[in-house]
Amino acid sequence: LYTVHITSELSPVAKVGGLADVVFGLTWELQIRGHNVEIILPKYNNMRYDHIYGLERCFEDLWVPWHNGAIHCTVYFGFVYGRKCYFIEPHSNDCFFERNKFYGDHDDVFRFAFFSRAAMEFLLKSGKRPDIIHCHDWQTGLVPVFQWEIYHRLGMHDSRVCYTIHNFKHQGVCGPQVLDAAGLHRHEYYYSKERLGDYNYPEAINLMKGGIVYSNFITTVSPTHAGEAKDKGQGFGLEPALHIHGGKYGGVLNGIDYEVWNPKTDCHIPVQYSSENIDQKYENKRALRERLLMADNEKPIIAFVGRLDPQKGLDLIRHALFYCVNHGAQFIMLGSSPDPSIDSYFWRLKGEINENPDSHIEIGFNEELAHLIYAGSDMMVVPSRFEPCGLTQLIAMRYGAVPLVRSVGGLADTVFDKDHADKPLDQRNGYVFHNDDYGGIESALSRAISCYYMYPDHFRNLMLNGMASDYSWNVPGQHYLNIYNYIRAK
Ligand code: ADP
Ligand code: GLC
Repeated sequence: LYTVHITSELSPVAKVGGLADVVFGLTWELQIRGHNVEIILPKYNNMRYDHIYGLERCFEDLWVPWHNGAIHCTVYFGFVYGRKCYFIEPHSNDCFFERNKFYGDHDDVFRFAFFSRAAMEFLLKSGKRPDIIHCHDWQTGLVPVFQWEIYHRLGMHDSRVCYTIHNFKHQGVCGPQVLDAAGLHRHEYYYSKERLGDYNYPEAINLMKGGIVYSNFITTVSPTHAGEAKDKGQGFGLEPALHIHGGKYGGVLNGIDYEVWNPKTDCHIPVQYSSENIDQKYENKRALRERLLMADNEKPIIAFVGRLDPQKGLDLIRHALFYCVNHGAQFIMLGSSPDPSIDSYFWRLKGEINENPDSHIEIGFNEELAHLIYAGSDMMVVPSRFEPCGLTQLIAMRYGAVPLVRSVGGLADTVFDKDHADKPLDQRNGYVFHNDDYGGIESALSRAISCYYMYPDHFRNLMLNGMASDYSWNVPGQHYLNIYNYIRAK
């Protein structure tokens, strides 16, 4: 199969969250199975260019229709760890991708609507005719719309579109101007509730809804979340669209890249280890403490790594920190947020706990420190309010850190409580709580901390069970191939 991913993120060159990891992992899985895979990204000027190999111009004059004219773009080609990537650089006065951040500007919908159109125009003009176009999240929600309304008539009639929703919270709800800019002029038509018209704001369109309506198949990133989004109020208003298009919708659980996340070969950690020599993990624990200037004692380290978004249960993370330091555990948090008020909330908290050698708060994005935290921690908390899949609990398990999660979305599909009576012992891999409040997370923390001290053998079994489970891309890769083949045959 010939597959092209159109995406706003790719690890490690342009990463904000799990979307970057998913595109990185899934594309490789398809490639090692012998499929032809290409990735199209914007050419951000804040990308990590040191991870792009052999970057060169490959298409000089791409004219992309925009407003009543066209914007001149240059397309570059390069490899990201063996993956074939095209980077689109618009030469526009709007400087769409010449910013020092990926998202969070007032014109984001224009930036990514333009990118979506440019990616399609590039496929057309360069003669590429993929069997499957796979696009992701609201940023590329217009790709299926363009494919059906424009490009399918221009010779790309054989391409099918798979649209993956990683997060329903961000939908690209915006005014009509973006349709004009993008060359979708018949307003009444696109505005209709059957198409891009937003359900909640009468004057607005919704780019993610466009993706749902126009794609050949829609996935979200875990089976449980697929149900939550459609039927349990977690679709952020898109529930009716998911019902109408329910016949082409499903959940595919994410994997993680087993080469990047491998404690046996990880070059970001001082001592490599595996389940055969798991005691070496404690060398990393020592190194982590040393690096963060924390006390060296007999306590377990409990950590959180992630975007500081309300989705992640920020008050519960804060509560976990205080609970841990008061109940015989250490706590580490690594995270960042594009929202200055959230960042400053955690800067203040950092000030509050500054002197406490049993805790550390690191604010910022730091891939290498993240690896050391997974390797050096005994447990990882993920107390999310909602979580389409979640990768940090999967990475934690791979590194022998026991996950402690709230039972939602992909967390519920991957973490099974130590005391889960219906699960065989060897499948229990962590701690799960249900209530979205302090009591909920406290009950899990207290069980976990006392098991760590009182039943070290049981705790070790949880670590080993997590390390033995398979959350690679092997199974989900096959699921996506099945979907691709299914929509091709239709
Ligand atoms: P989401 O996509 O909602 O942010 P996921 O759990 O799916 O959450 O993926 C998060 C990914 O981003 C993981 O690979 C995690 O290690 C990484 N990550 C998040 N925040 C940071 C940070 N501040 N520094 C380094 N890595 C981070
Ligand atoms: C989203 C979700 C997260 C998921 C990730 C990758 O950002 O918040 O749960 O793991 O995308 O699919």
